[in-house]
Amino acid sequence: MNKEKKILSTLMVIVMVGLGVALSGCVEEEEVNKIIVGTSADFAPFEYTDASGNIIGFDIEMVTTILENLNYTVEVKDIGFDSLIPSLQAETIDVIAAAMTITEEREEQIDFSIPYYEADQSVLIKKGSDVEINESHNLENFTASIANLTIGAQTGTTGAGWVQENLIDTELMDEANLKLYDLYIDAVADLDIGPARLDAIILDLPVAQAFAEDSGREVAYTIITGESYGLGVREGETELLNNINAELNEFMLSEEWTTLITKYFE
Ligand code: ARG
Repeated sequence: MNKEKKILSTLMVIVMVGLGVALSGCVEEEEVNKIIVGTSADFAPFEYTDASGNIIGFDIEMVTTILENLNYTVEVKDIGFDSLIPSLQAETIDVIAAAMTITEEREEQIDFSIPYYEADQSVLIKKGSDVEINESHNLENFTASIANLTIGAQTGTTGAGWVQENLIDTELMDEANLKLYDLYIDAVADLDIGPARLDAIILDLPVAQAFAEDSGREVAYTIITGESYGLGVREGETELLNNINAELNEFMLSEEWTTLITKYFE
């Protein structure tokens, strides 16, 4: 091999190695920047699927904007509400955006962002059904009036927890009268069938109102629980949490936030 050829082939090796490094760098970077958001898309207007099966909603748009601002590529996974915390811990998802109430019990398992939405629980019934609810805001009168109903709720939610604590643990209601569903939309389908299946559903008020917009259902009562929703991240992911909080804080003060509220709630 003459000198020039040698230099040329050495140069080519350098270029090829360089290219290889650069390319693998790209791939790695993409993987590092991808983030998986877990949700339970049965909870309009926060998270639901459109006619073509795309996952949309207030939470989805909000979390996507925030994470994209942080330079992440976002993928949204629809899994049952009750599997969200275990999936976060198992690292199959990285962030929870599911209208999830910040509770002490959950705080022991995951970390929450600053609160982004306030909500109470409510009772959704079929319009014209003979379910009668004592509307006084005396908890005892109210609970007594619903203790004989068949009540539905989504597994693992604060709605299901409310029934457990206030009706079952107090022995006002038989445990068999609480029907737990993987998805709230399945509970609503049973409510539409009627009292043979379900008399009432306990769920977050803004979502009950959305379900009641479709004729045939009504919100019969608001149970003041004063809940706050937060985004969930794995415990100890302080940097991600701080970044999310900073973005969320800014986002909630922006025009975009108002636009999003108007789009999904008015
Ligand atoms: N806020 C309630 C809770 O945290 C219900 C949330 C249900 N969310 C959903 N995407 N299905 O327990």
